[in-house]
Amino acid sequence: MDSETVTAGTRAARKDDHLRLAVTQQREPAARNDFDDVEIVHHALDGIDVGDVDLATRVGDRTWPVPLYINAMTGGTANAERVNRALAIAARETGAPIASGSLSLALDDPWTAQSFRVIRDENPRGVVLANLGADRGPEDAARAVDLLEADALQIHLNAVQETIMREGSRDFGSWAGRIERIVAASPVPVIVKEVGFGLSRRTLRRLSGLGVRVADVSGTGGTSFARIEDARRGGYAFFDGYGQSAACCLLDAPGDGPALLASGGVRSPLDVVRSLALGARAAGVAGPFLAVAVDGGADAVVEDVRAWISQTAELLALLGTPTPAAAAGVDLLLRGRVREFCELRGID
Ligand code: FNR
Repeated sequence: MDSETVTAGTRAARKDDHLRLAVTQQREPAARNDFDDVEIVHHALDGIDVGDVDLATRVGDRTWPVPLYINAMTGGTANAERVNRALAIAARETGAPIASGSLSLALDDPWTAQSFRVIRDENPRGVVLANLGADRGPEDAARAVDLLEADALQIHLNAVQETIMREGSRDFGSWAGRIERIVAASPVPVIVKEVGFGLSRRTLRRLSGLGVRVADVSGTGGTSFARIEDARRGGYAFFDGYGQSAACCLLDAPGDGPALLASGGVRSPLDVVRSLALGARAAGVAGPFLAVAVDGGADAVVEDVRAWISQTAELLALLGTPTPAAAAGVDLLLRGRVREFCELRGID
């Protein structure tokens, strides 16, 4: 094997490691996270008819049919292709937008492209987001969008994950400039996201300055890449819990910054609605849907995503909020760690 083949093989093996280790995390007993500190005040007479709830939500200059999306995960191996097919069928059947895993592998090793392309092939009319790292430039971004005929481009910021990975990059200084150039050249809207460590107020402000109009805060409390990468190499367990949760990031976000998406530890339709209540336009789920896809295939994910969407509508009816945007006005009590975070950050 030449060194290129070795590199491609190593990167593909990493994708399967990520799938396996992420599913292992989902099989652990459910843990508390910061969404539990976001309590919605129940008003027993506020409800409306569920038929009067319209789940459509505005994200940047587009309307998404539902405020729930399948977040970026995988591609690059036969296993990943099976997962992407199941998730894409669920997206097609429910209208949920879906993101690919990082297309970096497909750009460098085109024989892996079909394992990503299946997301568009199975879901020709749905909202599809192409995912790429901030270490790439505008030309690669355009290729990634073309490959999936994507409606938007997700750029992930995964500096913590790279730092923990033995084979990861340690060079992050060019990222902001690259994002600015990608945004300026991109034919579709650009969404910048974390991968489970959160986007701070300062980061969101900087992204705004780079022209980014939509950001997914993707915080702690769900899939932990600190634990996934530590399981692959050891010695970095101290990073578990590093970063901020989606709930804290949404509360910390600047009022004049990018429109917000929430992910990281969204475990139920109630967490979707908590995210909307904290100002997100939609909530993204990765690990929980992955586990369902691996365990039960396409039929199981279709059923699961469908249930999440109808339960989200039921919750909005209960709250008397006819749209996802209206949920931003509901009464909340912030407890525990989230309350402490707000006090420390000077948030009212
Ligand atoms: C991810 N995530 C991710 N994010 C990204 O932007 N590009 C990627 O390629 C990947 N790859 C990936 C693989 C696997 C197996 C998982 C589970 C996740 C991160 C994902 O989109 C999300 O930000 C985090 O997983 C937090 O959400 P959950 O899992 O707590 O719902």
